[in-house]
Amino acid sequence: MFPKWFDKWNRDNPTNILGPAILVGAAGGAIFFAGILYVIWGPGGSYDNVSMQTGPRGTGMHVARFVPDFETQDPTIAEYFTLPPVPPGPDSERAGDVIEGAEPLLADLTVDNYERLITAMRQWTGIEDLLEPGLENYQTVVARSMIQMTQELNELWGAHVNANPDTGNVGVSCYTCHRGEPVPTHSWFKLGPVNDAAAGWAANQNRATVQSQFTALPSDALEKFLLEDNAINVHDLDPRVSRADANPATVQDTYRTYSLMNYFSNALGVNCTFCHNTRAFYDPAQNTPQWTVANLGIIMVQEINNDWLGPLTEEFPEERLGPVFGDVAKVACATCHKGYQQPMHRLDMISDWPELATTGEPVYEIEE
Ligand code: HEC
Ligand code: HEC
Ligand code: HEC
Repeated sequence: MFPKWFDKWNRDNPTNILGPAILVGAAGGAIFFAGILYVIWGPGGSYDNVSMQTGPRGTGMHVARFVPDFETQDPTIAEYFTLPPVPPGPDSERAGDVIEGAEPLLADLTVDNYERLITAMRQWTGIEDLLEPGLENYQTVVARSMIQMTQELNELWGAHVNANPDTGNVGVSCYTCHRGEPVPTHSWFKLGPVNDAAAGWAANQNRATVQSQFTALPSDALEKFLLEDNAINVHDLDPRVSRADANPATVQDTYRTYSLMNYFSNALGVNCTFCHNTRAFYDPAQNTPQWTVANLGIIMVQEINNDWLGPLTEEFPEERLGPVFGDVAKVACATCHKGYQQPMHRLDMISDWPELATTGEPVYEIEE
């Protein structure tokens, strides 16, 4: 098939091509795999990560996050509606004097600010006729309560919703929870026993539910800790037999605490070392400052659920109530945080909305 001179030349010059072929193949393979690794783990790759240090060096306290996830902003932030306030002048008219059927709770606002706030609340909750003059439906009743709740959250719970005041205002508005929808995402209902194939403790777990974050952990952690006020602590350095007053927590209690902690981590998009030195869960002195903010968050959420939402249960139509117990939708960490360390990436909810920042008279900054 080849010309004769080639066959002769080939016979006179025997060459081992296997060695070089293996070499070229191995080098090519290495370059190929290095390329793949670079694309995945290199800068901008899907496993490229940033690390936030949360504790002293050497303690392994850091939260690692993938850059592509970290750089994606919460997409609902772009839809946030806001308008700066109109500082009242000496002869600004009050809504209550001008608009017939104006919402009594807001009647003292000037007409400009009244209309500005109503427009915003409609955008934030996605309810087009919210607080329409003369309209008295359950949404009107709920909205009144929600306005007072939001004012109280900003006024009394600054240590949580304004946890880092030296870096500017944050606070909450209706949008922090609602994001343009009447029923906020990540609100939840009581489930009770979830596993009909089992009785007693076993009935609380081994079902993939939103409340268990789709794990086999108990599904009742939110109701035990964020509605009721049961002890979350389970860790004790003493052997259980050594003291009469030793922590009575059982293995089951530990599961439930872990279920809550897993929920916290997902709600904020962080891991355990964001709040704990994980070698010493029992020791508050080794926790991070965020642990304290989270701890206040627990009490704040209990208050939202028991003092604000609970009493509204009777107002809601049946289709808005829980499928098992007919309970009202409740708030937990993710209702505001939506999977992010700081809700709305710390967007300032206060400066434009003095009406929602205090239960008293709104304070309007007059620009010089
Ligand atoms: C901390 C979270 C949170 C904040 C802040 C909040 N809400 Fe709500 N809101 C809820 C939850 C949870 C529900 C119950 C969901 C449902 O309707 O079943 C609710 C329900 C409502 C409803 C009834 C909706 C319906 O159709 O059932 C209205 C109206 C409402 N909120 C208005 C407001 C307004 C106005 C503000 C701001 C002044 C506000 N909310 C702030 C959590 C919040
Ligand atoms: C956002 C902050 C935060 C995150 C994230 C978090 N925790 Fe916690 N954890 C807390 C707070 C606050 C408490 C204390 C609650 C109390 O005692 O009322 C606590 C309590 C605990 C306890 C009980 C401590 C004791 O004294 O018995 C354990 C165990 C625990 N967490 C484990 C974890 C694990 C495991 C993770 C990760 C899956 C985690 N935590 C993630 C805030 C957090
Ligand atoms: C009503 C809305 C709301 C709810 C509900 C809520 N948070 Fe927050 N949380 C905020 C806001 C707003 C901030 C940002 C404060 C700041 O950066 O000044 C925040 C900040 C935090 C921080 C500090 C983050 C940081 O980077 O310093 C932690 C930790 C935290 N929340 C944990 C929780 C936990 C745990 C829960 C549930 C038990 C919870 N939060 C429920 C609104 C809420």
